[in-house]
Amino acid sequence: MKTVLITGANRGLGLAFCRHYLAENWHVVACCRHPDSSAALLALAESCPHLRIEALEMTDFAQIDALGEKLSGVPIDLLINNAGIYPDTASNAFGQVDFEVWRQALLVNTFAPAKLTETMLASLHLGHDKLIVCLSSLMGSITDNTSGGSSYYRSSKAALNAVMKNLSLSLQNDGVGVLILHPGWVKTDMGGANALIDAEVSVRGMCQVIKAFTLTQSGQFINYDGKILPW
Ligand SMILES: NC(=O)c1ccc[n+]([C@@H]2O[C@H](COP(=O)([O-])OP(=O)(O)OC[C@H]3O[C@@H](n4cnc5c(N)ncnc54)[C@H](OP(=O)(O)O)[C@@H]3O)[C@@H](O)[C@H]2O)c1
Repeated sequence: MKTVLITGANRGLGLAFCRHYLAENWHVVACCRHPDSSAALLALAESCPHLRIEALEMTDFAQIDALGEKLSGVPIDLLINNAGIYPDTASNAFGQVDFEVWRQALLVNTFAPAKLTETMLASLHLGHDKLIVCLSSLMGSITDNTSGGSSYYRSSKAALNAVMKNLSLSLQNDGVGVLILHPGWVKTDMGGANALIDAEVSVRGMCQVIKAFTLTQSGQFINYDGKILPW
């Protein structure tokens, strides 16, 4: 049985990923900040013996290290770096930059997935699929940016893209792949009610991309429907 580790698994796309892989009979390590109050995950756990819930605050690197030790020797086939924040507001526009908020965006969206990936690498080497997936955003694309705004989020995802592209090159001789995905504009707490697609549609598409992955695609930036996106 294959194993996937998912961050931000308690709601939105992370929860939809959990549901998808449990239905596919994978072992799922669902990471979230507050397991005791993650009602949707706790309800899933009642009927899914293959679901393991772990506490993980992504900005707490000691907790990431502790999770790495706890999972030491456990093969992980697929790591999904899904947790993320969109902290930009209109009042944070240039001239009123809040560097503390920007730092938090970089911490959660860039440093934390890099730290977790580094920590889980030994377990990924033990897995069969050896694939790292990062939930990025088309808003991290510099080519696609024609509207401006959202500097904290855009820069944190652009940096994530650069780091993960780099990692794909470092890991290519080890047979470990890296995929950078844009989920579409999705109806979640982050995407809002006006978004274009449901989480299930987005996750179904991303999981098809993941399933079809070959190492020649490592380091690519791909839309949920399989289209390659510009940096
Ligand atoms: N929705 C979209 O349209 C869209 C578009 C492009 C990219 N994305 C990306 O897709 C990913 C998932 O987005 P979503 O729409 O599902 O967002 P969401 O509904 O806002 O869910 C975000 C998830 O990340 C978790 N999280 C946030 N900060 C965390 C931290 N410090 N430590 C651990 N977990 C943390 C949240 O946990 P709590 O419940 O504890 O806060 C929650 O589980 C994100 O990386 C996002 O940037 C989304």
